[in-house]
Amino acid sequence: MNTSDMLEQYQRAFAETLGVHSAFGFWKGRVALYAILKAMGIGEGDEVVLPGYTCVMAVNPIVYLRAKPVFVDIEPVTYNIDPNLIEEKITPKTKLIIAQHTYGYPADMDAIMDIGRRKGLPVVEDCCLAIGSKYNGQLAGTFGVAAYFSFQWNKPYTSGLGGMATVTDADLARRIEELYQNDVVRPSTREVGMLRAQLAVYQAVIYPRTTAMAQTLFRLLTKAGLVVGSSATCEFSPTMEPDFFKGMSAVQARRGLRQLGKLDRTIAHRKQMTRVYAELLAERGWPTPKVPAKLDSVLVRYPVRVADKKKALATASRHFVEIGSWFECPLHPIETPLEAYGYYEGMCPQSDRACAEVVNLACHPRTSAASARKSVEFIASIGPAEDQSCI
Ligand SMILES: Cc1ncc(COP(=O)(O)O)c(C=O)c1O
Repeated sequence: MNTSDMLEQYQRAFAETLGVHSAFGFWKGRVALYAILKAMGIGEGDEVVLPGYTCVMAVNPIVYLRAKPVFVDIEPVTYNIDPNLIEEKITPKTKLIIAQHTYGYPADMDAIMDIGRRKGLPVVEDCCLAIGSKYNGQLAGTFGVAAYFSFQWNKPYTSGLGGMATVTDADLARRIEELYQNDVVRPSTREVGMLRAQLAVYQAVIYPRTTAMAQTLFRLLTKAGLVVGSSATCEFSPTMEPDFFKGMSAVQARRGLRQLGKLDRTIAHRKQMTRVYAELLAERGWPTPKVPAKLDSVLVRYPVRVADKKKALATASRHFVEIGSWFECPLHPIETPLEAYGYYEGMCPQSDRACAEVVNLACHPRTSAASARKSVEFIASIGPAEDQSCI
């Protein structure tokens, strides 16, 4: 099967799984967001509302189009945009609200869609951390006019790198299709070759006990240009690379299609891991977050607020435990020059606090009850953050 057949098959299967009008595959999730924004006509001077607790790669596409990201604080239980704080940030220049489903917890879609309807603003969902999560029985990614997904290494399922834009609106689909035909570039043979090799290495050596060391090595190799990293150094600043607008390769589409076929199993495993963590933490007297009953979450990682985040991250690999650091700062990662994006400390206090306290535990298919027990024992030795009355 050639690239376009494979990609078309994957796009069709993805749209069917979600039950939406259509899907478009890209090199990365951030590229999918760029396509959506460009097709919606977002441009200079427009304002885009989004949570101030995200990855900078989800902000760059806004800035690349010379629009302004407007950050709204999060609520502390699900780490999602606080709907009570959205309206005060809306101005005549606001063109869009982005609802991110953080860690896999669905955002409060009733409240967000209501604001969108009343203010005449479309909603786009950031589903990069959430495939299969449901809000009031409805799948995340099917509420807004569009949504986007990521298949990067750490995401709900992976094709190494990859992104999908999905749309519920036929007219928007036609505009993305036009962009795809006219503006999208193909990934180079070298990039695709390196990605293929990395997928093979990942398959062979990455397990919970080896992840921390592998990540350190991977970052060093990325800096040296020896692997295709998730993000080039230039992407930690608001400057777009000339070949940014890249489509999905056949390698990613083939791998993605295979992963999509295993989605039910992946979801069941993630839910099982979530239950295991909740039980093990509760046994140790850890505070339990009061997650609303209407959320049926498929967590990509299990967030916990710890007493000493620095210590947890610095010592995890010595205990062969996989601990994640999302989000290190309100526009992850820590290298982001926040002021260049208009974010200043204190803008989103709940986000600042979550960045200081939260680490996350792995739920991916290579985790098990045994690795969860080890992680929880380690986290318990660090201890919970002191005041967790907010959750
Ligand atoms: C919430 C969120 N949105 C968007 C992205 C961008 O996805 P990608 O790395 O595939 O571009 C990421 C991660 O990188 C993310 O964590």
